[in-house]
Order: sequence, then C-alpha cells, then structure tokens
Amino acid sequence: MSRTLMIMVLSLTLLIPELATARWIDDIVSMEVEATGPVNFSHYNHLEALGKKCTLCHNNVYNIVRSKNPEFSMDDMRKGKACGACHNGNKAFAVDDDCSSCHPTRDITFAVEDGDAMFPHSVHTEMYSCGDCHTGVFIPDHQKSTRYTMDQMSEGESCGACHDGDTAFSVEEDCESCHDM
Ligand code: HEC
Ligand code: HEC
Ligand code: HEC
Ligand code: HEC
Ligand code: HEC
Ligand code: HEC
Repeated sequence: MSRTLMIMVLSLTLLIPELATARWIDDIVSMEVEATGPVNFSHYNHLEALGKKCTLCHNNVYNIVRSKNPEFSMDDMRKGKACGACHNGNKAFAVDDDCSSCHPTRDITFAVEDGDAMFPHSVHTEMYSCGDCHTGVFIPDHQKSTRYTMDQMSEGESCGACHDGDTAFSVEEDCESCHDM
C-alpha cells in the first residue's frame, strides 16, 4: 500500500472510530530524545487504558503524520501539550511524577580490568533529574561514550563531577563502592 493511500485509509478509520482496531497499527512509536535516549510510546497499552478511540490523540494532540508534529519540551507538557494533555496527575500519572516510566533507565556496567565499575541509575535519578547529567556530563549512550581514567575523575571529570568527597564520596577512596574488586 502506498503511504498516501495508507494515510487516507487511516484518516477514514479516524472518522469512524469503531472501525479502528489496534491490529492495524504498530504498537511502539519510538521518539528520539537526545537528552534522555528514546521514549517508546505504546499504542496498545494506551488503547487498552483509553478504549480504541484514536481521536483522543489524533489529530488534535498528535498528528498521525509524524513530520507534522513539532518537538515538545517537558515544559510544554507541564502546560498540557502532547503527553501532558493527559499525564497531568488527573487523567494519568503526571509528567513530573516518575521520569523513568517514559524514559527508561538501566544500570550501566563499565568494563574495567581490575574490577568492573557499576553505575546504578535509580540511586541517582531519585536525587537528580536527567538533565543534571545528560548531556553535559554524560551522553545517554554507553556504546558511544567517552572513557575516562581515575586521574581525570580526580580532576572533576565524569563521576568525579560529584564524587569529590564533598557532594558525594570521593573517587580517591571507597574503590569498592563502585568497583567489583
Ligand atoms: C494516547 C494517544 C494516542 C492514541 C489514543 C492513538 N495514538 Fe497514534 N500516535 C500517538 C503518538 C504519540 C504518535 C507518535 C507521534 C510522533 O512521534 O510524532 C502516534 C503515531 C501514530 C501513527 C504514525 C506511526 C508512524 O510510524 O508513522 C499512526 C499511523 C497512528 N498513530 C495511528 C493511530 C490509530 C489508527 C489509532 C487508534 C487505533 C491511534 N493511533 C491512537 C498517540 C496516540
Ligand atoms: C489521551 C490521553 C493520553 C495521552 C495523550 C498520553 N497518555 Fe500515556 N497514559 C494514559 C492513560 C489513561 C494511561 C493509564 C493510566 C495511568 O497509568 O496513569 C497511560 C499510561 C501510560 C504509560 C504506562 C503504561 C505503559 O505503556 O508503560 C506510559 C509509559 C505512558 N502513558 C506514556 C505516554 C507518553 C510518552 C505519551 C506522549 C507521547 C502519552 N503517554 C500520552 C493517557 C494518555
Ligand atoms: C508521560 C511521559 C513522560 C514523562 C513522565 C516524562 N517525560 Fe520527558 N519527554 C517525554 C517525551 C515524549 C519527550 C519528547 C517530546 C518530543 O520530542 O516532542 C520528552 C522529552 C524530554 C526531554 C528533552 C526535551 C526537554 O524538555 O529538554 C528531557 C530532558 C526530558 N524529557 C526529561 C524528563 C524528566 C527529567 C522527567 C521527569 C521529571 C520526564 N522527562 C518525564 C515524555 C515524558
Ligand atoms: C548522576 C548522573 C545521571 C543521571 C541523573 C541520569 N543519568 Fe543516564 N546515564 C548516566 C551515566 C553515567 C550513563 C552511562 C554513560 C556512559 O557510558 O558514558 C548513562 C546512560 C544513560 C542511557 C544510555 C544507556 C545505554 O544502555 O547505553 C540512557 C538512555 C540514560 N542514561 C537515560 C537517563 C534518563 C532518562 C535519566 C533521567 C530519568 C538519566 N539517564 C539520569 C548518568 C546519569
Ligand atoms: C564513584 C565511583 C568510582 C570510585 C569510587 C572509583 N572508581 Fe575507578 N572507575 C569508575 C568508573 C565508572 C570507571 C570507568 C570509567 C570509564 O571507562 O569511563 C573507572 C575506571 C577505573 C580504572 C581503569 C581506568 C584507569 O584509571 O586506569 C581503574 C584502574 C580504577 N577505576 C581503579 C579505581 C581505584 C583503585 C579506586 C579507589 C582508589 C577507584 N577506581 C574508585 C568509578 C569509580
Ligand atoms: C550529579 C552528581 C553525581 C554524578 C555525576 C555521579 N554520582 Fe554517584 N552519587 C551521587 C550522590 C550525591 C550519591 C549519594 C551520596 C553519597 O553516597 O555520598 C551517589 C551515590 C553513588 C553510589 C552509591 C549507591 C548506593 O548504593 O548507595 C554509587 C555506586 C555511585 N554513586 C556511582 C557513581 C558512578 C560510577 C558515577 C559515574 C559513572 C557516578 N556515581 C556519578 C552523585 C553523583
């Protein structure tokens, strides 16, 4: 099916919501976000929570033609735009409640010969927001990241931006707090 035809058929199903079934569409729409890594929006979970009503989002909140949607900031969402049309603490959990439900994180292991170092995201996301580290201190992509030495950390780079013995325990002590050694 050509893209134009597909869009026409979809537009028609939007006018007749009963005809629209979740099976016609892919579940996950991945939205690239440089500062946090991708947000994977699930159509199926939403259609289950809301009923199969495409018109709740299309096209007043989001156009189904993705290039027609501007990029939204978290501030736009706090003001009720995009995901914030529902994620306001009333219709669904608020955008400020739990960043990780939309921006998933995992613990990161840095391979080190003397003993791998572990970075527990959740310990940190309870104290900081994503923007405190991404992208200023770390890019949110472990494969492409710059590697640092302990000497550079002692000078305030990478983990050393906070683990300086003042904001958090120092990189010059407590090796075992981070390393499996
Ligand atoms: C809770 C909100 C919501 C509901 C309900 C919803 N969608 Fe979406 N839909 C989105 C979002 C968000 C996007 C991604 C928009 C973007 O990134 O620009 C999207 C994108 C799409 C796309 C474009 C996918 C692509 O890869 O180009 C299609 C097609 C689509 N939706 C169809 C539907 C249909 C059909 C229904 C009803 C069965 C539906 N949607 C219900 C929020 C919703
Ligand atoms: C039309 C209303 C509406 C819009 C718009 C909407 N949501 Fe939701 N969302 C809901 C409801 C209702 C639930 C289920 C109730 C709850 O969890 O609070 C939900 C649940 C979720 C969940 C938990 C379930 C899951 O899939 O893991 C996530 C994550 C989520 N939404 C992300 C998003 C993102 C990202 C956007 C914007 C791209 C968005 N939502 C836009 C209404 C909406
Ligand atoms: C309901 C889902 C949802 C929740 C909860 C959420 N975000 Fe987002 N966030 C998004 C989506 C979707 C985008 C991308 C929007 C776009 O590109 O149009 C985004 C974009 C961003 C961006 C890049 C744009 C900007 O504002 O700078 C940052 C940073 C961000 N989120 C951080 C956070 C933090 C921190 C939290 C918790 C306080 C959070 N988000 C909670 C869905 C969510
Ligand atoms: C205290 C600093 C810190 C905070 C706060 C933080 N991160 Fe991270 N994040 C990291 C570090 C360190 C890495 C690994 C980067 C590297 O390898 O250079 C990382 C990596 C990532 C990655 C890439 C994971 C992978 O598999 O490659 C994603 C996605 C990510 N973070 C998302 C987030 C989101 C979303 C938030 C907010 C909810 C957040 N981070 C808050 C430090 C942080
Ligand atoms: C706050 C957490 C943390 C503490 C504390 C820490 N390290 Fe590290 N260390 C790391 C991380 C993360 C890496 C990997 C950095 C990278 O690859 O970008 C690393 C890398 C290393 C490396 C390989 C790079 C190099 O400098 O040669 C050695 C060796 C090392 N650490 C030894 C130690 C010793 C010994 C201590 C105690 C005096 C220590 N570390 C304390 C987090 C820590
Ligand atoms: C934005 C500041 C910041 C950055 C950057 C940061 N940390 Fe932390 N970290 C903290 C704070 C604050 C604590 C809690 C206070 C304390 O224990 O001294 C903490 C605690 C920890 C803990 C102890 C967790 C627990 O179970 O109690 C580990 C392990 C850790 N950080 C590893 C790392 C590693 C590895 C890096 C670099 C990849 C890093 N941190 C980067 C601020 C930061």
